[in-house]
This record gives sequence, structure tokens and C-alpha cells, in this order.
Amino acid sequence: MSSSSEQGNQQWFERWREGRIGFHSDSVQPLLARHWQSLAVAPGARVLLPLCGKSGDIGWLARQGHPVLGVELVEEAVRGWFEAQEEALPPAAPRTNFDRFDSCARPGRAAVTFDVGNFFHLEAGLSDEIDAFYDRAALIALPEAARQRYALKLAELCRPGVEGLLISVVRDERPDEGPPYVVTDEEMQRLFAANFVLEKLGEQRDERGMTDIVWRMQRKAPLSC
Ligand SMILES: C[S@@+](CC[C@H](N)C(=O)[O-])C[C@H]1O[C@@H](n2cnc3c(N)ncnc32)[C@H](O)[C@@H]1O
Repeated sequence: MSSSSEQGNQQWFERWREGRIGFHSDSVQPLLARHWQSLAVAPGARVLLPLCGKSGDIGWLARQGHPVLGVELVEEAVRGWFEAQEEALPPAAPRTNFDRFDSCARPGRAAVTFDVGNFFHLEAGLSDEIDAFYDRAALIALPEAARQRYALKLAELCRPGVEGLLISVVRDERPDEGPPYVVTDEEMQRLFAANFVLEKLGEQRDERGMTDIVWRMQRKAPLSC
């Protein structure tokens, strides 16, 4: 791993330690609640949440009956999720490159699993466990060079036909001092069009001049020759 990506990772440990998590919300993202039903995702399908933090979206998807697999670098974030559920942090189950924490299914909510470690170190074999995905503030948390790697990793983890939502962000003319980083529609196409069918479903502008754009994405089948 390059030293710039190590520094990037360090930044997240510091943010969680110092409570600088302005991106976090306990509530479901309105764009997720509005658009999830437009995907052809089967009931009970398992949803991957890359760079998941302790977002309220995790519980919302689990309450729709979807087992959730969240991937998060910083254990502090996952601890915070368990605390908010008033559940004790279970013992970690070590896996290659990750510590796995499971919260069992309960009435009205499917199981939630967290893999704590670096998303880029996930193994392609995990694709057997993934039926859908949801990216909010994951791609846009990464600097440009890492976004290309993220797009390829996501493609590696999705079997043909797997669908998901991804929320990108653009903002009024101001220097791009992410995170969150601006990801233009052109960059979305450049990053994903080779491996995913992309469809823009909607957008939402806030008072700070930032516009969230929600994309439906479906993994393409590999080209046959
Ligand atoms: C902007 S936050 C978004 C969190 C969550 N998706 C949300 O909507 O609240 C980005 C999260 O990604 C985590 N993260 C950053 N780099 C990561 C990596 N390489 N692998 C896994 N998680 C990572 C950070 O610790 C942070 O919690």
C-alpha cells in the first residue's frame, strides 16, 4: 500500500477518535428510502455496504429484511453501531485481513455483519455472499486515485446482474477539498461504465450548494469472445 493511502487511512482513525464525523446520520438517507424499491432486489437479498461507518442506513436495510454486510476500516465506528443498538460488541471472528462482528437477526430486523478492515483487501470470493450493494459516502470519501481502485474492487465483488445504489456528489463552484470529493457524471461513467449499467435516478440539492446524485447500477456480464 502506498504511503498516501496509509495517510488517508490514518485520517479516518483520527476522525473517529476525535468524533469528527459530520457525515454521520442516525436516520435513513432520504434518497435510499425513496429509491431502494426501484431496484429489482429480491426479498432477503444480502446487501454490501462499503465504507459503512455506523450509518442509520444499516438498520434501515436490515429492517427491510436484507441481511447487511458492512465493511469499515475503523473498529470504533462498529462499536458505536452496537452501542446505539444497546447490544454488547460480540467477540471478533478473525478472517483473512478482517475481524468479523455479527449481530444476529431479531424480530423485524435481518442479521447485520461487519467486516472491520480495509475494503481494498476484500477477497473476490466474497462475491458469493453479496446480492446487492449500497454506497453512500463511500466512493466520495476517497481521493481520485483510490476511486479507480474502488470501482474495480466493487466490480470484482459483484456477480453479473447484482444491482445497487450509489450516491455521488457535486457542488457549486468551490475548490474540491474533500472528503466528500466531487465526482462528476463524466467521472462516474469513466469509472463504472465498463462494468456496470448506470442510470441516474434523481438528485437532491442542499443549502450548502451540494447536490447528491443517486445512481442505479447493475453489474454487466463479462464480454464473451
Ligand atoms: C464519509 S464516511 C461514510 C460512512 C457511511 N457510509 C455513512 O454514510 O455514514 C467514510 C467511512 O469509510 C471508512 N473508510 C475509509 N477508508 C476505508 C477503507 N479503505 N476501507 C474500509 N473503510 C474505510 C471511514 O472510517 C468512514 O467511516
